Amino acid sequence: MISRRRSVLLLSALALGAMAACEPTNQGYEPEQPVAYSHAVHAGGQSIACTYCHYGAERGRYAGIPPASVCMNCHTKVLPDNEEVQKIVRAIELRDPIEWYRVHKLPDHAYFDHSAHVVTGELECQSCHGSVESMGLVRQEEPLTMGWCLDCHRQEEPAAPGAASDLPPGFAPAVGTNLVDCATCHR
Ligand code: HEC
Ligand code: HEC
Ligand code: HEC
Ligand code: HEC
Ligand code: HEC
Repeated sequence: MISRRRSVLLLSALALGAMAACEPTNQGYEPEQPVAYSHAVHAGGQSIACTYCHYGAERGRYAGIPPASVCMNCHTKVLPDNEEVQKIVRAIELRDPIEWYRVHKLPDHAYFDHSAHVVTGELECQSCHGSVESMGLVRQEEPLTMGWCLDCHRQEEPAAPGAASDLPPGFAPAVGTNLVDCATCHR
């Protein structure tokens, strides 16, 4: 009889075998958005830092999309009568948040955390999202498949036991985290 544990392992092996055939990828996905906001204008032309708007990326799992009030930090003065800016003004007046279409989305069974990747300062947003600062519409540049995650994780040294981390607890993976262990990304 096959033990429960062994059948789980067998299933994992089968799943890994089938993986190449069923990797979901939305690479190239580039939806129109409800407001014609342009990264090329703001992160490119105006050189506004990514984390000015996506401040969640340094703090936790999600980078976050800025609320309309962040746009109005500037647009009460800059182009207040612009048609697209007016959509933002109305969203605030009617308390009806803009429903941006999500571009990058992993399946629920995979775990990803921005702060772990961003806070060390060694990885730029662009290594996973491409040159967003030259995009009018945001496009998914990378496949975001398990194979893609592993390509990078295999080259990284996990922090050795006893190694000091200058990052606060909760911002760095626990010392000794095995970056290719299934449980690191499937919890
Ligand atoms: C002025 C605010 C602002 C700045 C600065 C900004 N963004 Fe954004 N970002 C947004 C808004 C609003 C959206 C949602 C609309 C869209 O997708 O264009 C967004 C969407 C995104 C998305 C897609 C999110 C998803 O749904 O998957 C990525 C990736 C992204 N930004 C990365 C960046 C990077 C990298 C930079 C710096 C080079 C940057 N952003 C600078 C406001 C900003
Ligand atoms: C190591 C790769 C990697 C890096 C570096 C990275 N991202 Fe992401 N980003 C992802 C993945 C993967 C997703 C989809 C996550 C999910 O669906 O749970 C994502 C999703 C997003 C989203 C939409 C969902 C959310 O978290 O709000 C935004 C916005 C975003 N990234 C912005 C940024 C910005 C800005 C930076 C740099 C400060 C950055 N990302 C750095 C891989 C990365
Ligand atoms: C830090 C200041 C700042 C913030 C924050 C900001 N903008 Fe802008 N935005 C500008 C400036 C400056 C311009 C004018 C660029 C030019 O003259 O070409 C501009 C131009 C625009 C335009 C017209 C340009 C075009 O693409 O045709 C729109 C629409 C716009 N912004 C929407 C937004 C939205 C939506 C947000 C929030 C997600 C936002 N902006 C956040 C500074 C900002
Ligand atoms: C370009 C390189 C790169 C890519 C691509 C990448 N990672 Fe990572 N990841 C890292 C590094 C480096 C660390 C360790 C960071 C540290 O030592 O503080 C890490 C750590 C992690 C951790 C541990 C965080 C914690 O809180 O324990 C998880 C989970 C993770 N990555 C998931 C993913 C997933 C899922 C993907 C693909 C969607 C991915 N990563 C893509 C470089 C990458
Ligand atoms: C660095 C992060 C990471 C590690 C480590 C990792 N995975 Fe994944 N895995 C993902 C991501 C992201 C997805 C979703 C994208 C995809 O299906 O390629 C995924 C998808 C899967 C799927 C679903 C495949 C499908 O086609 O629907 C299975 C099954 C799976 N992983 C099993 C495993 C097993 C078993 C291990 C350990 C040997 C493992 N994973 C290690 C990130 C990881």
